[in-house]
Amino acid sequence: MLAIRLVSGSTRPDTLVLPVRPGGPDAPPVLAPTAVPTGDDVRAEATALLPAARLTGAVGGVREHLRPGAAPSRLWLLGVGAGDEPDWRSAGAALARAAKDETQITISVSDGVAALRGLVEGLLLGSYRFRLTEAGPRPALARVDLLVADPEALADTLAAARTTAEMTALARDLTNTPSSTKHPEWFADQVAAAASGRPDLHLRVRGPRELADEGFGGILAVGGGSARGPRLVELDWRPAGARTHVVLVGKGITFDTGGISIKPVPAMKLMRKDMAGAAAVVAATLGAAALRLPVRITTLTPLAENMVSGSAFRPGDVIRHYGGLTSESTNSDAEGRLVLADAMAYAVRELKPDLLVDLATLTGANAVALGKRHAALYSENDDLATGLLAGIDAAGERAWRMPLGEDYLEYLASDIADLHSSPARGAGSVVAALFLREFTGDLRDRWAHLDMSAPSWSDDVQGELVKGATGWGVRGLLRWLATLG
Ligand code: BES
Ligand code: MN
Ligand code: ZN
Repeated sequence: MLAIRLVSGSTRPDTLVLPVRPGGPDAPPVLAPTAVPTGDDVRAEATALLPAARLTGAVGGVREHLRPGAAPSRLWLLGVGAGDEPDWRSAGAALARAAKDETQITISVSDGVAALRGLVEGLLLGSYRFRLTEAGPRPALARVDLLVADPEALADTLAAARTTAEMTALARDLTNTPSSTKHPEWFADQVAAAASGRPDLHLRVRGPRELADEGFGGILAVGGGSARGPRLVELDWRPAGARTHVVLVGKGITFDTGGISIKPVPAMKLMRKDMAGAAAVVAATLGAAALRLPVRITTLTPLAENMVSGSAFRPGDVIRHYGGLTSESTNSDAEGRLVLADAMAYAVRELKPDLLVDLATLTGANAVALGKRHAALYSENDDLATGLLAGIDAAGERAWRMPLGEDYLEYLASDIADLHSSPARGAGSVVAALFLREFTGDLRDRWAHLDMSAPSWSDDVQGELVKGATGWGVRGLLRWLATLG
């Protein structure tokens, strides 16, 4: 990870980056104000360059200007658009990519915590790479100095941005990891390693034996087809004096073949990402602990590998979930809701939190409804929905609230069980949410569900996203959690 430092005016950088804004219709861009004034000679030179630089000031545009024998010897102009937090985030990511062959750069930053937070997150997230080989070119950029007026005053903002980016990178790493390596026990071990040594964090991992003893029938059914048995990870951030208790649940299918209702080749290609919800809630909880947010968070990740084998569960099986509700499953590819149902029922009955939020790569229908960047948010609680959406938006992620269409409720009826888990009618993402709602008990109006299969992965480089896992949810959850107390 890039080393980022706050520095005040005294350094003499080799490579100085100055932010540039659009100058208005038909006008060349202008230098954006910075917290530390740029020396008169450099400023005058940069200003003279602007009309010739063919820069618009739009976010992410970069021009390099060489100044042999002078200091700084390289001047970079960086478009930051209107200069709000998302602009700085995108600009930071674009800069990290453009400057990958530099070893060190210094950026003159505009005033304010928002610019700094956006820039730092953008630099770190945009330079994220996941590679299992040392072969191929590696980016040289190792250190970034940020020129600010009062480094001391911005230290906390830098720490929050760095923690957010580090935890997003952890979620990306977990999600990108191939499923040959990544299985339920492996995931639990990763959580244990990341949590160890942090005060006030407690971990409990249940294996197949404990899951059977306590009646987690959904997790056992879905995990039953794999040689690598299921787990339930319970990670508890318990700061003294916390008044609010949130339970986060994340779908942790370490690979989804579809089971006996096997997926066709193209649909199975990316199913190593089917634990992105689990990765996001774990990383957000570790982030909350690192930032010592004053809210209690218990995170549950039901982990299973949905495989095809002689011990796999069958279409038509009836599953007895934690707490006793039964469901008839006629499509073993609708496995996510089965493991989530157990974890949610356990949370409601045993943990009795104030709020319950689940994240899951639950349906392909999420992308059909909302495209590739928006998660679908479901909740009966307007305050909770509004709060989550605000946190997600402020963090530069996206979600869209969807209705819990009551007209589909009848599809959840089964002739032989309490519920039918995979009706073939209705809007897929909505029906899945309605199924989950049946397991919220007393917390029905204090629950939110995020179907985040679409934004969990990016097929291209865009802003702070690189190809592959996005770590969706870590940033938004951390912002939202920071508002509770
Ligand atoms: N893991 C998938 C959902 C998914 C699809 C995530 C595409 C990411 C990209 C989930 O377990 C699944 O298979 N859902 C089915 C539900 C159906 C069988 C009711 C789906 O969406 O087709
Ligand atoms: Mn599936
Ligand atoms: Zn799945």
